[in-house]
Amino acid sequence: MRRKLAAGNWKMNGLKADLREVAALLTDRPASGCEVLLCPPATLVAAMAMTAAGRIAVGGQDCHAAQSGAHTGDISAQMLKDAGASHVILGHSERRADHGETDAVVRAKTEAALAAGLVAVICLGETETQRDAGETLAVIGAQLEGSLPEGLTGATCVIAYEPVWAIGTGRIPSLDQIAEVHDFLRDRLVARFGAEGATMRLLYGGSVKPSNASEIFATSNVDGALVGGASLKAADFGAIVAAL
Ligand code: G3H
Repeated sequence: MRRKLAAGNWKMNGLKADLREVAALLTDRPASGCEVLLCPPATLVAAMAMTAAGRIAVGGQDCHAAQSGAHTGDISAQMLKDAGASHVILGHSERRADHGETDAVVRAKTEAALAAGLVAVICLGETETQRDAGETLAVIGAQLEGSLPEGLTGATCVIAYEPVWAIGTGRIPSLDQIAEVHDFLRDRLVARFGAEGATMRLLYGGSVKPSNASEIFATSNVDGALVGGASLKAADFGAIVAAL
């Protein structure tokens, strides 16, 4: 019922020459029924959308909560849409940590994304300190409650669970730990959004690689992945797509 999604987040990586990876992914794309999304830096959104030609979805990595105005250096959801994006990542832990983004800010940005017709990929995740303190579900639950506006549907939002301590570290939670969080998220989404909550895709993110993708994707309520480092090269990302 939920179509699998392989999403790549290039973070602050990628120049025009790296679009060859997108071209390679299109050429060598494995036969997989899953949806594929790549989120390059804002400078590459338009060019990547041209290269992808609708065969791979393209997204931004952030947007401002306002539609326009005096916000030097910021980009609106409408601008991303205009550049060819269909999705936008919001509330990534690197945005929360580096730019002080609160749940309320993420919620406001999500509303802006929806108003512009973008699918919001909303990120949640605990720090290692919070996990060690046994606070994981409380932290995730609070982020979920605070970051998601009313009226979301399975077509307008995707949730990405990314334990902060697993991002770029090569460490991943146990499959039981991933299942615990994803099952918890599913229950909360259904409790809040009813039948729509059952259609929202839940991605796992944090050190996903070709070597661990299959077992993660076989885990309860995992509908795909949000991939950082391993999305930069077509060979790696293609192998992850093939595992879905
Ligand atoms: O958005 C992607 C995540 O932060 C995961 O990054 O796959 O490099 O650990 P990673």
